[in-house]
This record gives sequence, C-alpha cells and structure tokens, in this order.
Amino acid sequence: MLEGKKIILGICGSIAAYKAATLVRLLVKAGANVQVLMTPDATNFITPLTLSTLSKRPVLVEYFTPETGEWNNHVELGLWADLMIIAPASANTLAKIATGLSDNLLTAVYLSAKCPVYFAPAMDLDMWKHEATQHNIGLLQSFGNILISPGKGELASGLHGEGRLAEPEVIVAFLETDIKSKLPLYGQNILVTAGPTYEAIDPVRFIGNHSSGKMGFAIADQFASLGANVTLIAGPTTEKSKYHDINRIDIISAADMLDACLRFFPDSKACVMCAAVADYTPVTVSVQKIKKQDKELHIDLKKTVDILKTMGQQKANGQVLVGFALETNDEEKNAIEKLQKKNLDLIVLNSLNDKGAGFKSDTNKITIIDSQLQKSIFKLKHKEQVAVDICNKVTELINAKN
Ligand code: CTP
Repeated sequence: MLEGKKIILGICGSIAAYKAATLVRLLVKAGANVQVLMTPDATNFITPLTLSTLSKRPVLVEYFTPETGEWNNHVELGLWADLMIIAPASANTLAKIATGLSDNLLTAVYLSAKCPVYFAPAMDLDMWKHEATQHNIGLLQSFGNILISPGKGELASGLHGEGRLAEPEVIVAFLETDIKSKLPLYGQNILVTAGPTYEAIDPVRFIGNHSSGKMGFAIADQFASLGANVTLIAGPTTEKSKYHDINRIDIISAADMLDACLRFFPDSKACVMCAAVADYTPVTVSVQKIKKQDKELHIDLKKTVDILKTMGQQKANGQVLVGFALETNDEEKNAIEKLQKKNLDLIVLNSLNDKGAGFKSDTNKITIIDSQLQKSIFKLKHKEQVAVDICNKVTELINAKN
C-alpha cells in the first residue's frame, strides 16, 4: 500500500523522536519516498544526519538552508505529499496546528498540505489526559486528520500509562490498513486466472500454448491496488506479482485449474478468467517416456471441462463473471457467442489480427462487451493500462449488482 507513496514525516521535540529512525526505515522498506521535516526542538533528540541517511533525502528543519540560502517551499512540500505523518506529535505542535499557528516549517507544511494527515502523539500521561490536549485532538479529528493512538506503558518521566508513541511497526500497519480501507474494492474477494495450462503427454512432454500470463498478472495486480483480496490461479509462467499479499495458487493442467476455480469461486465477488486453458488433453498419460518409432504417432485427445461455463452455471446473484476471447476471425460474433453461452457479465475480446495484441507482447488492444451487448473499444495500450480499463469495468459492475 505504501509502494511509491510520497510521505512527509514530521518529527517533533519528544524523547520518542528516537523511534522515528525505525519508522523511516520501515517506510522506505515498504517502498515509500520519505521527506523528513523536523521542528528545531526535535534536532535535540535525534540528529538530522541519522534521518537523512535513512530516508536518502536531506532533512528539512528551517524555511531556508543557511549554507546555500535555498528556500524550502512549504506550499510545494504540502502539495508534493500523498500523505503526511506527524510522529512523534508533541502536545505543543498539536496545539499549534489545531489553532492554525505556523511558526516553523513543519507547522507551515501542515497548513499547506492537501493530503490525508495522520498524527501519532507522544507525551507524558498528564499532558495527554489534559483537557486542552484532548480538545486539540478533537479539533484535529474534526478537520479530518487521523489519530494514531498512543500506547500504554512506562513513560520517559517514570510514570506509567497512556502517552507512549505507538511503535513504528504499529504506525506502518495502521497506515497500510487505513489506506486500504478507503480503496474501492476493500474487503472484496476477487479471483483471477492467468497463463497457459500444460497437458501432460508423458513425463517429459506436454501440450501447451504461448500464453505468457502477463495480462492476468497485470489484472491481479490492479485488483490488489484497488484493495481487493486477490486469489491468482496461475498456470506455468515466469511472471511475478507486484503485491506480496496476492494469494497465488500455482497449477499445471486444465483439471488442476478447474479444481482451484471451483474452490475459490463461491466466495468471490468477481472472477476474471484470463488463463488460456487447453480445450483438449491426452486421453491417457504415458507413465514412461514415449520412445521414437518409425511410424507416425497419434495421440488421442479428450475435451477438458469448460471452466468458465461451469462457473457461469454456478454464478450467484451479485457475482460478476468475466471471460476472454482471443479470436482470429468473426471476432465480435464469436465473442458474443461465448458471452452468452457461458453466462458471462463481460467478455474481453482481443483479435490476433491487431498488431501488438495477444500472447507474449507487453501491449494489448481490447474491446469489452457486456451482457446488454454494449461495446467499449479501447486503443492499443500497455497491458498494465489495459488491466486498469478491465478492473474499472468490473468494479462498476460489482457496485451495480450489489
Ligand atoms: N476457458 C475455460 N475453460 C476451458 C477453455 C476456455 O474456462 N476449457 C475460458 C478461457 O479462459 C476464456 C474463455 O473461456 O476466458 C474463452 O476461451 P477460448 O479458448 O477463446 O474459447 P473456447 O470456449 O475454448 O472456444 P474456442 O477455443 O473454440 O474459440
């Protein structure tokens, strides 16, 4: 969730400022770009050098850098950020920002920020409990700022109670969950299939196809970025997911894929069947390697189960089912036939006649047809962008059906 996010971390004067080093490290590890701002007081507790080394960016404290005279533009910084975290947030800084005071760079950036602001207070028990502090926290929350509550425990003063800065791991987990909870598909289970299937002939040979899995993996990543719980059933492929929380199930054959789909489909809000499933499989699989002979070799094939059609028969109200059709001729007619025969909500058509579309390439050109036979025609795009178009359509349909 934090990958590529531009984060301003504001650090106030508090003994808990030492924990900011771990917080920066965890945010950077999660893929975020972290710009550290410190109040002048915070520099008494932890050095800017430690934080600039960990964040790989100069730490900003003053409105200008005295050595170079460079102006640290608070408005630009406020607009640059995707989110701002003030941690530790001292009682003093909370009071200032709650009342709109801006006597240092951190408080000025707060007032200029258009992004979500999180604050994690750290102070002594009595300061935390004081009506003034609680009033200021209430004010900040009424502005839409998000409190990351302090923990309980031993405080620097020797007192025991509430006021300890939430642990850096807790802050990062809080941010990730909060960001995810605001995404359009948060909490929805989505099933995606990708790649080819391999149908064994003997222990060393199989019938396969040229599917790379790129399109299905891009769709799974896009659903994950929209907050969905994604299960990705993948045939043999070298592709990797961007999101570590995608539940990947590796399968080999069409029969394996059928089993996995039937296991996950009932609990899924939507299924996008992007895999290139073999239509035929050998009637028997030789236990030993088939030896070369002088005469021709014939392999008897039997039909595999049409997985999509099976799911179409089982589809419940509120579920969205999406198929793919890769065609070489009579493209629209064939796609519509599949849409209707398999009881789909959408079919994604790509034609092998379009340059840059289909297997192995990084691009695709699609037409999406819905059950009302409404067509959306898209330009040739990178598969990641194609995935955005497909997932947007699916999200619209999930919302319309539920
Ligand atoms: N599909 C499936 N199970 C199969 C074969 C296909 O679930 N045994 C799915 C594919 O994943 C795709 C859709 O059905 O989403 C259409 O696949 P395609 O191969 O284009 O269509 P078929 O129905 O197999 O028809 P044909 O091969 O004759 O075009």
